[in-house]
Amino acid sequence: MANLVAAIILLEFLGLLDANKDTCDVYGAVGQNLMLPFAHKDLKNNLKWTHNNTVIFQRMKGKVLHGKPEDISSTGSLLLKNLQFASAGNYKASVWHSNGTLEKEWDRHLCVMDKVPKPQLTYICDFKSNAVKLHCSVSKPHYLNYSWMIDERILTNEKTQSLSISLMEVKEERRFSCSVENNISKESSDGVRLTCKTSSAPLLCFPKLVVMAVLAGGAGLRGNRVCECVKTESSD
Ligand SMILES: *[C@@H]1O[C@H](CO)[C@@H](O)[C@H](O)[C@H]1NC(C)=O
Ligand SMILES: *[C@@H]1O[C@H](CO)[C@@H](O)[C@H](O)[C@H]1NC(C)=O
Ligand SMILES: *[C@@H]1O[C@H](CO)[C@@H](O)[C@H](O)[C@H]1NC(C)=O
Ligand SMILES: *[C@@H]1O[C@H](CO)[C@@H](O)[C@H](O)[C@H]1NC(C)=O
Repeated sequence: MANLVAAIILLEFLGLLDANKDTCDVYGAVGQNLMLPFAHKDLKNNLKWTHNNTVIFQRMKGKVLHGKPEDISSTGSLLLKNLQFASAGNYKASVWHSNGTLEKEWDRHLCVMDKVPKPQLTYICDFKSNAVKLHCSVSKPHYLNYSWMIDERILTNEKTQSLSISLMEVKEERRFSCSVENNISKESSDGVRLTCKTSSAPLLCFPKLVVMAVLAGGAGLRGNRVCECVKTESSD
């Protein structure tokens, strides 16, 4: 019975280790300094920090055998300077009693990521489908969430990199922007006012004055400067 219980506990323990392997408990940005918090009151005891099972700090009976004392706080926290991708992985802190039994352990998985770059909003006026197609361009589109805003108001249902809106909804005073977010940072594009007049299917505008003047044979030029616009079919 005791053996069975021990086996189950062991299996659960292994299962937990497995589950922890891929998930991130702590996130850090490349280049950042990060403190891995460990709180222990009596540091006369032996302290050890490992990274991916390699000892990076060890103190026994007050003597530092591995690593730099200045990287360890008074409670045993570890300061990681200038994070790199190689800084990622498993970190473990352990404290032993002087009689050799384990007193306290701390075990976390650190993921290191780049901060997201600022995205750029680009768009195409598509007169054929009567829509404007917006795109949130970003140089490294990994693990990102997208969001869209009109005049700082979030479009709650729009979460993909592209957005299509009806030409009817385009009002020049409206400012569109998009944001990208990963687990450590968020950046927004500049606000963009959409103008769909100059496009692949341009509106050709003739001053009406000219038309009337031609019809009237040059005589009696009156006129308000109004434009008559003709929408051309795009020729692709
Ligand atoms: C530690 O392991 C992680 C994967 O879990 C890896 O990304 C990282 O480069 C490793 N770092 C070192 C120094 O071994
Ligand atoms: C080791 O020392 C701690 C604290 O002094 C004590 O609580 C624990 O029972 C000891 N264990 C053994 C096996 O002596
Ligand atoms: C991305 O969006 C999902 C669903 O809205 C959310 O659960 C998750 O935390 C977001 N991830 C990031 C990195 O923002
Ligand atoms: C970012 O966080 C989400 C949960 O919010 C998670 O599903 C995803 O795997 C994380 N991305 C990375 C690269 O760890």
